[in-house]
Amino acid sequence: MSLDVINVAVVGYGVVGSATVQTLIDNYEVVRRKTGISIKVKAIVDLYIDKRDDKYLPHVEIKSKSYKDILSDSSISIIVELIGGVTIAKEIMLEAIRAGKSVVTANKALLAINSREIFEEAKKHNVMIGYEASVGGGIPIIRVLKDDLVSNNINDIYGIINGTCNYILSRMSSEGKPFDEILGDAQAKGYAEANPTFDIDGIDTAHKIAILSSIAFSKYIPYESVDVEGIRDISFTDIQIISEFDCTLKLLAIAKRVDNKVAISVRPTIIDNDNLLASVNGVFNAVMLDGDRVGKTLFYGRGAGGDATSSAVAGDVVAIAKALSSGNIDAKTPLGFTEESDITIVSMDSIPSSFYLRFMVKDEIGVLSIITNILAKNGVSVYKALQRDFSEDGKTVPLIFMTHEVEGNLLNKAIKEIGELSIVVEKPVVIRMEI
Ligand SMILES: NC(=O)c1ccc[n+]([C@@H]2O[C@H](COP(=O)([O-])OP(=O)(O)OC[C@H]3O[C@@H](n4cnc5c(N)ncnc54)[C@H](OP(=O)(O)O)[C@@H]3O)[C@@H](O)[C@H]2O)c1
Repeated sequence: MSLDVINVAVVGYGVVGSATVQTLIDNYEVVRRKTGISIKVKAIVDLYIDKRDDKYLPHVEIKSKSYKDILSDSSISIIVELIGGVTIAKEIMLEAIRAGKSVVTANKALLAINSREIFEEAKKHNVMIGYEASVGGGIPIIRVLKDDLVSNNINDIYGIINGTCNYILSRMSSEGKPFDEILGDAQAKGYAEANPTFDIDGIDTAHKIAILSSIAFSKYIPYESVDVEGIRDISFTDIQIISEFDCTLKLLAIAKRVDNKVAISVRPTIIDNDNLLASVNGVFNAVMLDGDRVGKTLFYGRGAGGDATSSAVAGDVVAIAKALSSGNIDAKTPLGFTEESDITIVSMDSIPSSFYLRFMVKDEIGVLSIITNILAKNGVSVYKALQRDFSEDGKTVPLIFMTHEVEGNLLNKAIKEIGELSIVVEKPVVIRMEI
């Protein structure tokens, strides 16, 4: 077989798998004209392949229920893993690598947990791994970080990289409805899973920022190193107050480097409405990178969905096909580095930031000064305070503060002390600000 024909097997014929097959077949001629390479979907593997029926399947020679059937086919050089999950998917990737096949995947969960094992195995077997679709769906960001920004020290990454959370927060903000109501509607519209835990508790976002940070800071950074807080507890009251300050609440994935330390977190975060990320609404995603040479750059687009994600998967397939065709296989730098850096991971609470604080307090004389004294005693300086002059129940009022930059560790001490006061009737709300 000529190296200008590259055969591919797609494992998992679900949302992304079927869209990838469609893209590779529909746009076969586009790719061939641009690259001179014919990329053929030779095999599709899916548990229920016998129950599938569409106009693309007749174009595909091998249809199987077991990935084992394709591992021994020496004419297939690229396996595209699109089944998801971290057990069988890992088995498929490792077995494909050991069979000398390059692998393309969109599986952020697997890579965020097992990147070292998978990438080291790929290096050993001189095969390439493509994972552009694992972060930001169709947005080109992995190759940008690995290749185009290679000459930069990356200072920060800010990402809105979970469409479900962004959709919920955007609608809470624009329609003034509570979290549970919007979540139910998002589930009915297919923007949130029946079990939305991975998305709304920030886990999916943490997987993605772990992958981006590993590339940006040249170190295997497992997902367990990310401080994670989701959006489940966000109340409409806070969204409303935040908007009165000309600010917006987003679930932000943040990686911040200070000297040789990096803090990585996923947290609901307040940003100024002038920040470009504040206009990223609905299911859209965006990643803002700051490099020491390029400055700030912003990447925006569809972070999920079959078509958009298939664009990134197909891009990886083509990149690997070009490398195989030219004999220039780059198996040494799957995460964009040849040597790990000695950067250390620190808690986001050790990096100063401004904070939004809301305390529900008894409507009594002197409450404001008790709270501001505790803040001051712990080194927390306030630049804005707001005491609502109304009380919904006639007994409690919200006290809102915005602080100057302070370490989260110091603030946490003050919040604990305030939270224990008998005049404070609800758990205090603390939200980081990136103004
Ligand atoms: N959907 C998106 O917008 C999106 C965006 C970015 C990344 N991703 C990632 O892309 C991957 C695939 O997601 P998806 O949304 O396409 O999932 P999906 O629609 O559930 O598709 C997975 C497919 O794999 C099949 N499958 C499961 N176990 C298998 C096995 N052992 N052998 C062969 N086939 C098997 C499933 O069959 P059954 O249905 O019968 O179980 C299903 O057809 C995941 O890693 C996901 O995180 C998805």
